Amino acid sequence: MKLNNYINGSWQEGGGADYTAVVNPANGETLCEVKLSGKSDVDEAVKAAKRAQKEWVLVPAPKRADYLYEIGRLMKERKEHLAQVLTKEMGKVIEEGRGEVQEGIDMAFYMAGEGRRLFGETVPSELQDKFAMSVRAPIGVVGLITPWNFPVAIATWKSFPAIVAGNTFIWKPATETPMMAYEMAKIFEEVGLPPGVANVVFGSGGEVGTAMIEHPDIRVISFTGSTETGRRVAELGGRHLKKVSLEMGGKNAVIVMDDADLDLAVEGILWSAFGTAGQRCTACSRVIVHRDVKKELEQRLLEQMKSLTIGDGLDESVKVGPVINAAALEKIHGYVEIGQQEGAKLLAGGRVLEDEGQKCGYYYEPTLFTDVKWDSRIAQEEIFGPVISLIEVGSLDEAIEVNNSVTYGLSSSIFTRDVNQAFRAQRDLDTGIVYVNAGTTGAEIHLPFGGTKGTGNGHRDSGVAALDVFTEWKSIYVDYSGKLQRAQIDTE
Ligand code: UN1
Repeated sequence: MKLNNYINGSWQEGGGADYTAVVNPANGETLCEVKLSGKSDVDEAVKAAKRAQKEWVLVPAPKRADYLYEIGRLMKERKEHLAQVLTKEMGKVIEEGRGEVQEGIDMAFYMAGEGRRLFGETVPSELQDKFAMSVRAPIGVVGLITPWNFPVAIATWKSFPAIVAGNTFIWKPATETPMMAYEMAKIFEEVGLPPGVANVVFGSGGEVGTAMIEHPDIRVISFTGSTETGRRVAELGGRHLKKVSLEMGGKNAVIVMDDADLDLAVEGILWSAFGTAGQRCTACSRVIVHRDVKKELEQRLLEQMKSLTIGDGLDESVKVGPVINAAALEKIHGYVEIGQQEGAKLLAGGRVLEDEGQKCGYYYEPTLFTDVKWDSRIAQEEIFGPVISLIEVGSLDEAIEVNNSVTYGLSSSIFTRDVNQAFRAQRDLDTGIVYVNAGTTGAEIHLPFGGTKGTGNGHRDSGVAALDVFTEWKSIYVDYSGKLQRAQIDTE
C-alpha cells in the first residue's frame, strides 16, 4: 500500500523523489510506503487552503462544529480499527491505543461545543451610546507539525480548534506515523469537509516542515516535538514573523513523600514511566523520594516491575510495547551507559531485548536507577524511553528544588496524604501540569496542555487555551450616538 497526500479534497502523490517505508516497531514488518513531498506540494496545499478559508470563515461556527460532531462520531464508530492501526505503526499497547483515540474523540466533541461558544467579551464603553466588544477572529491558513508518539491525539488538539475557529490547515505528520494521518484524512473526506479546509502533506521536517514555516501565507505554526527541533522552528518562524506555538520535551518527576500511600505511588510511577514505553513528553523519568521511604519504595518498584510483560502491543496481555525505532533504542541505551558512568546504581533493566519474538522489534527493558545525583545527565536530560532515576531528598522543599532544577517544565506529581504539603507543592512546582496522588501522565483534553521553561514558549494545546493559538482578538467599537465622541477626552 502507498499513501498519498490529501490536498484540496483529493489524493495526490507527493512530488519528492523518495519513498519512505513505515515499519511496525513490534516486529520490523513494513506496513506501507509513503512518497515524500517537497516544497511544491506545500505550495499547492497552501493555495487550496487559502482559497477554502475565504468561504470557510463565512460558514457559521456552529455549522463548522457540525463537521466536528460528525468526525467525532466516525472516530467513535472506528475506534477499534484506529487503535489497531495506531498500535501497529507506533507500538504503544492496544489499551493505550484505544485511550489515545478516545482522547481524539473527546477533543472532537469538546471543540464542537466551542462552535456555540467561542466567547469574546462585551464591556461597557466609557462613552454614552457606544458599544464595545471583542471577538475571536480566525487567523487564516495554519500549519500543524505533529510527532509520532501521539499520532492522532496531538493532531486533534491542533486541527479541531483550528477549524472550529474558521481557519484551514496544512498538517505534516511525523514520517514514522503517517497511517493515522491517512485514516484521519479519510474521515475528513467522508464527513464532507469542503476541499482545502483540511490538507495532509507527508514528508520530512527538513523539506516539508521548512517549506511550511517559510511560506508567507501560513500564519501560524503549531509544533509538537523535541526541544532541539522546536528551537529551530521558532528561530525560522521568528524570522518570518510567524506565530509559533511550541510543545516540546519534558523531564517529569514524581515526588514521593514519607507519608505517601506507597502502593498507590508505585502504581502511579510504573504507569507514567513505562506506559507508551516511556515515550510520552509527560512520562515520569525521575522519582524524587523522601529518604525515610526510599528503601521500601525501591523494593516495591522492583517487585512490581517483574510483572511487566514486554512484547507486541497488539497482544492484550502485554504491558510495555516496543520503542519507535533502532535510533531510539540506541539513544536510550546510550543514556543507560552514561548513568552507569556517572555512578548511579542500576537496580533493574538496562538491556536491549533480543529474545525470541523480540529480536525483529525494538524492545528496551524497563530500567530503574537509584542513588542518582539530581544534577547528573540522566536526571537532567530527556531520555524518552523506559528509564527511571530515583533521587533521594530529605524534605518537601528539597524535593521541589530538585523537581525545578531541570530546564523543562511539563508535568510533575506528588504523593502525600498531607493536604498542606499537597497545596504547597502545587503552588511551587514549576510545571504546566501538576498531579496530586496520581502519576505524571493522563492530561484531559478540556484543560490547557503545555509547560514552562524549555518545554514551551507560553502557548498551550488543548482546552479553551488552544483557541488562543488559532485566533486573533478583534476589538470592535460601535458608536450609536450619531456624533463624534473622542475616547479619553469627551468623557466628562
Ligand atoms: C505527549 O506525551 O506528547 O497526558 C502527550 C498524557 C496524554 C498526552 C501526552 N494525555 O500523558
